[in-house]
Amino acid sequence: MSQHRITVLHGPNLNLLGTREPEVYGHETLADIDQSLQTLGESLNAQVTCQQSNAEHELIDTVHSLRGQCDGLIINPAAFTHTSVAIRDAIAGVQVPFVEVHLSNIHQREPFRHHSYFSDLARAVICGMGSEGYRAALRYLVKHI
Ligand code: DQA
Repeated sequence: MSQHRITVLHGPNLNLLGTREPEVYGHETLADIDQSLQTLGESLNAQVTCQQSNAEHELIDTVHSLRGQCDGLIINPAAFTHTSVAIRDAIAGVQVPFVEVHLSNIHQREPFRHHSYFSDLARAVICGMGSEGYRAALRYLVKHI
């Protein structure tokens, strides 16, 4: 059986996980989360590629490179969730099924975090489950794509 190709994209400041506002985002580092996704991917016959960037244009370029190369995308656009029409348009342009993930429950936080430029295009949206949200997204994509 051919492997599912799943890309995980983390947006700005998520490289600081572990030390960044741990009361909001938890104590796990990004490397911990990516490692757990690799391990889960192996058990699900999925090839998982993880990438983080603080730069909007890099995230856009990565999304463009996914066309025809990736079966499903898990994205935490971080602060770009609430600002980036450009990343939204990139995802719409390449038509890769995706799950939007947030570690925190953005709806329990400041009003400016309540709107996402991604949610209406996403297959699913997960927030408030901490790092478990990424693993739930991976299980979902492998099952449904
Ligand atoms: C976040 C929530 C965003 O509002 C915030 O800007 C982030 C992280 C989350 O994972 O909870 O950087 O996407």
